[in-house]
This record gives sequence, structure tokens and C-alpha cells, in this order.
Amino acid sequence: MHRVSATAVVGLQWGDEGKGKIVDLLAAEHDVIVRYNGGANAGHTVVFDGERYALHLLPSGILSPSKTCVIGNGVVVDPVQLLSEIESITERGIAIEPDRLLISDRAHVVMPYHKEHDAALETALAGAADQGDENLSIGTTRRGIGPTYADKVHRSLAIRMGDLPDEQVLRRRLDIVCAIRSRELEALGVDVPALDPAALAAEYHALGVRLAPHITDTVYALHDAVNAGQRLLFEGANACLLDIDHGTFPYVTSSNCSTLGIPPGTGLPGSVITDTVGIVKAYGTRVGEGPFPTEDLGETGERIRERGHEYGTTTGRPRRCGWLDLVAVRYSAMVCGCSSLAVMLLDVLSGFETLKLCVGYRLPDGTTTDRFLPDARKLAAVEPIWETVPGWSQEIDDLTSLDDLPPAAQAYLDRIASFVGCPIEIASVGPDRMQTIRVTQAARA
Ligand code: GDP
Ligand code: IMO
Ligand code: MG
Repeated sequence: MHRVSATAVVGLQWGDEGKGKIVDLLAAEHDVIVRYNGGANAGHTVVFDGERYALHLLPSGILSPSKTCVIGNGVVVDPVQLLSEIESITERGIAIEPDRLLISDRAHVVMPYHKEHDAALETALAGAADQGDENLSIGTTRRGIGPTYADKVHRSLAIRMGDLPDEQVLRRRLDIVCAIRSRELEALGVDVPALDPAALAAEYHALGVRLAPHITDTVYALHDAVNAGQRLLFEGANACLLDIDHGTFPYVTSSNCSTLGIPPGTGLPGSVITDTVGIVKAYGTRVGEGPFPTEDLGETGERIRERGHEYGTTTGRPRRCGWLDLVAVRYSAMVCGCSSLAVMLLDVLSGFETLKLCVGYRLPDGTTTDRFLPDARKLAAVEPIWETVPGWSQEIDDLTSLDDLPPAAQAYLDRIASFVGCPIEIASVGPDRMQTIRVTQAARA
């Protein structure tokens, strides 16, 4: 295998850090953009030339016309959602030829019963909590992510993209699956007609036929690309603290969304990755349930939410907001092996007299630590140890150079870099491609 540059872009908090913007930006310097995990739970927003694009399954690189995009085997694909995204991007004048979008034949399919199961379980658990039981709901996006990955791991009832174009295979599988799933959904109290295997097989076969020109063995395609000297860009969905193994379990998603998910989710060895850019929002947000030590339920959180338009791209839910947790970011940068950071939404912090950074945790027994606690129960019990730093008053969304930033904003970036131990490569001061400061001085760490 030749050594070529391959860059990973990964979120270091609980999602929505601005990965889509950075993938779109870095796509210009790469040839192939690869999604390796998650599904339509992701919502990546890209803004350029006055246009706003919200992508869920298509890699953000699709907006750059000459780039190849790959949906790797680690992604769970909802064909209905994918086709509607392809249609909407095509309608907006961006062509998606068969060889520009490759979908792994091994990627697992999100079926309607997965989405119904996801929603029914969440509703049942939230209902039980209302009756006084422990709240075990996760606050999922209800996109069927957990049940689809569960079927993958369980194996027997799983359906993969490569199965869709063959109606006989699909029909035989669905005869069994529908009988079992109908009983399970009934037990969860779902009031829908029993699943009809013939109708479902016909519908998903038709979707498979439409997607068939894109469905291929992406493992060989990716190795061929590496061997041909092409530059790869891995687009992380969700974020490190939502990683099924390394996030705040059980309040996580169902895939390895840290960079550790790249090898299993693509079939490429980790050794191909030469650079890892950790995406950090300049403050903290979280959607759904789970511990969030720096959450601010008062005026500060509200002000950040309004200035940052912190409402979900996928579900429209208001995001929980608070100050930046450097302990959490340093942990994620360690797990992901980050070589640099991109600090996003810095403009949102303009106008605060002072800013707070979490640099440690106080535990219930009074001791302190500067190590992250991925165990949700333990993390829920900590109190942040704050460092208060000066804010800046001026708006910064039209600045293009680091030196033009107010000294307090520069100092804020320097503090992030020194605490995390990683240089800052990009500072983002607005949603548009143009509102980006590339930091060239490698010595800022
Ligand atoms: P992703 O899931 O990590 O791709 O992030 P999302 O797209 O869900 O959320 C990030 C939001 O912030 C989107 O609405 C972006 O358009 C917006 N955004 C990205 N960078 C900046 C920035 O530097 N400043 C501001 N104000 N908005 C930004
Ligand atoms: P992007 O790629 C923010 C959260 C959900 C929920 C938990 C589990 O846009 O950053 P799931 O539907 O995956 O079973 O939900 O994970 N979650 C995200 N939060 N951004 C995301 O993706 C997310 N993907 C999943 O809100 O708390
Ligand atoms: Mg998002």
C-alpha cells in the first residue's frame, strides 16, 4: 500500500460541532470523502454562496462536484431518506452520477420496523419514567439507528444493501422477519397493522433497484483509491462522547463514532490515517438525555442557544447548552488521536464579559480529577471546576485572520490548545465557507 494523506474529521463533544462545514471545506484538498458510521441520526449543515444544505446520509463532500463519496459498510442506510437526499441535491443542480456515490453492499438497511421499534421503546420508557420509574429513555433521534445495529450484531434477521436488488432473497427474509417483528411491536404497544412481507419486499426491492448503480464492494474501491494515490477524507458522524464504547454509555449512539470506528466501518487499516482534525464547538451542547456537567439551565445557556441557533438539524429539538468542557475535549482528542483542532462557532461567544472553561471535576467525596469519566452515573455526579477568562465585546464574524481577532479571543483559543495539547488549525467565525480562519502557525499548542 502506498502512503498517501488521509484525514479524519471527528466531533469531540456530543455532536453538532460543525463537522459538515469542515468536511465541505477540506473536501477541496481530498479526492474521496467517506462516511464510516451512524446513519440519518446525523445532521450536517453546509453553507456557501448563500445556500444552506442539510445532509443526513450523504457525505458532505457530495456538494463538491468532482469528488467521489463513499457510504462505508459501517453506516446504517435508510434508503427512503437517502433517495430523498439524492433527489433534493440533484434538484439543486448538483449531479450525483453512479461513480460519484458508492454505497457499500455490506451497509445494513434501516427498515420501517426499526424506526417504529426505536420510537415505541423510547415512548414506553419515557412513559414509565412519568409513572415514577427510573428514566431509561436515551432521547434518540427515532431514526431506527439502535434497532438496525442490534439486528446487525444479532445477525439472523439483518438486511444489507446488497440484499435489496434481489427480490426473492428479500421476500424470503422478510417473511420470517415480519412475523417476529409484528409480535415484538405489538408487545411494545404499537398500534399499527401487522407488517406485510410482500408489500415491504416489493417496496424495498424497488428502492434497491434505484440505488443499485451505486451499490458496490466499497472495501475494494477504497483500497484501490489508496493504491492509486488518492487522498481520503473520513467524515465522522455523531461524536466521540456518543461512541458506543467510549462515550457516556448508555446515553450514546449505537456505533463507534470516534475515529476508532474507521477501520471496521470502511475495511481500511487505521494506519492509512495521517491526520485527524478534532472538531470542537467553542462552548458545549448536547441533544437528548445524559450527563452534561457544564450545562447551563439559566440565562447563559439560553443566550448561547439563541445566538448559536442551537436547534437540531435532524429533529429540530432545542439543544442543551453550556460552557466548554476542556476535560471532555482532551479525553476525546486522546481517544481519537487528534493531530489538530478546529474550533467552531467562536463568533457565538462575542458579547460575554467573561467566559468559563471547565478544567477539572470535583467528585462527590470532595476529591478532584482532571480525567473524564465516561461512566454516565459517575459523570452525572461531578461538579465542574471552572477557570474564568475574559470575554470580548466585538462581533468577529467578518474577520479572516487570526491576528485580527480580539486578544481575548486569541487567548481563549490558546487556552484550548494548551489544555488539550493539540494545535488549532482552524477557527470558524460563521456558518459560511468564507467565515473561516486557517491558522498556519503550528506553534500555537
Ligand atoms: P455537525 O453535525 O457537526 O455537522 O454540525 P451541525 O451542522 O449539526 O451544527 C452546526 C451548526 O452550526 C450548523 O447550523 C452550521 O451551519 C453552524 N456553524 C458551523 N460553523 C459555525 C460558526 O463558526 N459560526 C456559526 N455561527 N455557526 C456555525
Ligand atoms: P451529528 O452527526 C447530536 C444523539 C441523540 C441521542 C443519542 C442516541 O449531527 O453531530 P440515536 O438516534 O443515535 O440512537 O440517538 O445520540 N445523537 C446526536 N446528537 N448530533 C448527532 O449527530 C447525533 N447523533 C446522535 O440526540 O441523544
Ligand atoms: Mg449535526
